[in-house]
Amino acid sequence: MNDIELGRRKLDWARSHMPIHSELRRIHGARHPFAGLVVAVGSHIEAKTGVFIETLAAAGAEVVFTASVAATTQDDVVAALNAQPGITGYARRGVSAEESVALHERTVAHKPNLILDDAAELTALLVHRFPEHVAELLGMCEQTATGVQRLHAMERQGLITFPAYAVNDTPMKHDFDNVHGTGESALANLALATNLLLAGKRVVVAGFGYCGQGVAQKAKGWGARVTVTEVDPRKALRAHMLGFDVAPMAQAVRQAEVIITTTGNRDVLRREHFEAMPDGVVLANAGHFHVEIDTGALAEMAAASREVRPGITEHRLADGRRINVVAGAELVNLAAPTAMGHPVEVMDQTFAMQFMAAVHLLEHRASLGAAVYPVPDEVDRQVAQIKLRTLGLRIDTLTDDQRRYQDSWRSEDIIK
Ligand code: NAI
Repeated sequence: MNDIELGRRKLDWARSHMPIHSELRRIHGARHPFAGLVVAVGSHIEAKTGVFIETLAAAGAEVVFTASVAATTQDDVVAALNAQPGITGYARRGVSAEESVALHERTVAHKPNLILDDAAELTALLVHRFPEHVAELLGMCEQTATGVQRLHAMERQGLITFPAYAVNDTPMKHDFDNVHGTGESALANLALATNLLLAGKRVVVAGFGYCGQGVAQKAKGWGARVTVTEVDPRKALRAHMLGFDVAPMAQAVRQAEVIITTTGNRDVLRREHFEAMPDGVVLANAGHFHVEIDTGALAEMAAASREVRPGITEHRLADGRRINVVAGAELVNLAAPTAMGHPVEVMDQTFAMQFMAAVHLLEHRASLGAAVYPVPDEVDRQVAQIKLRTLGLRIDTLTDDQRRYQDSWRSEDIIK
């Protein structure tokens, strides 16, 4: 079977489990909200993203896409997408950092009117390196915590000259994708990559934000003994009250058998930590960039390094201790050899949020200024309603009395 056929099969499977996207194609395939617009997508290029890209094209967009992280690209999906009209992709698995930038530049050269971004990679490139194309940009939507953080940094420097929607910050994204998507897929892929048991293991989870909560709670559900590390006192307290051990990393590493980083920060595991880790520890990253684990320092400290299983590098230190790194500290749920990313249903929701936020941004762009905005709650609710409908679930609606009660403030109106 050739690459295009393999990619098509992956797309077919994903599409058949993405009912929200079927609804979006039904509604917006007729309305064509993106007609005449170049829409650039930067994301992990695999089948679920492929269905999102197909849906944008069905809604009238001329789609150009590239990979936010080269290590996670599936070349057969790229081939199948490139074979479709209205879609042009620049992505190849495992290209170097320089080649990756070149592919991003080719994408941005299409002068996008909308960017649907991951970690703000394309937006930052456009603003920094192609300021002459920024005038074409009507707006952008960002799907990750790292990207929203980066957009706010750009905003503080006065570099946001278009409306930007922080899709990551919506409940329909972070309550499901970050918590359940990252939680399930990080552990599933860690288990597949290592073929090791989690039950009974001492697992350290760095960061107790949305992703960290998902990873920690699901690891606990698998029977692991979980310690959480944090820098935010409230998150640490939340972890404590949910029954997790809480400790600084320097202490937590001493007993660790598995350590998973989910902070969106850098050097969370570094030289001082590697020096204290027990023999055989497994390190994996589920935050956006590989910099969460200082693999450069680890390689320098190692007397020898080798691949012990596909996707697992064993670094042997001078004193004989072995430290194993999964997928070179790239996202364990996307870059490990067997990895498929988040479960399909979760990405159906996340990409639907990107899609609906983009439609809303276009429809309201006359009233939006140059800033980073939260996505209006009505958009979040709409996607939740579609999802419930596809599940066949119904919920209650407020009665008129309940609505009045919620809007009241005088004691006599509240209790009568
Ligand atoms: P978040 O902001 O909710 O959580 C991050 C947490 O890490 C915060 O509680 C923060 O206090 C903590 N933290 C920061 N520096 C730390 C340090 N040095 N040590 C310990 N804790 C530290 O963000 P969220 O939504 O959990 O995302 C985290 C990362 O995961 C981001 O890079 C995001 O882009 C990425 N992400 C990855 C996904 C995947 O597929 N693996 C999916 C969604 C997000």
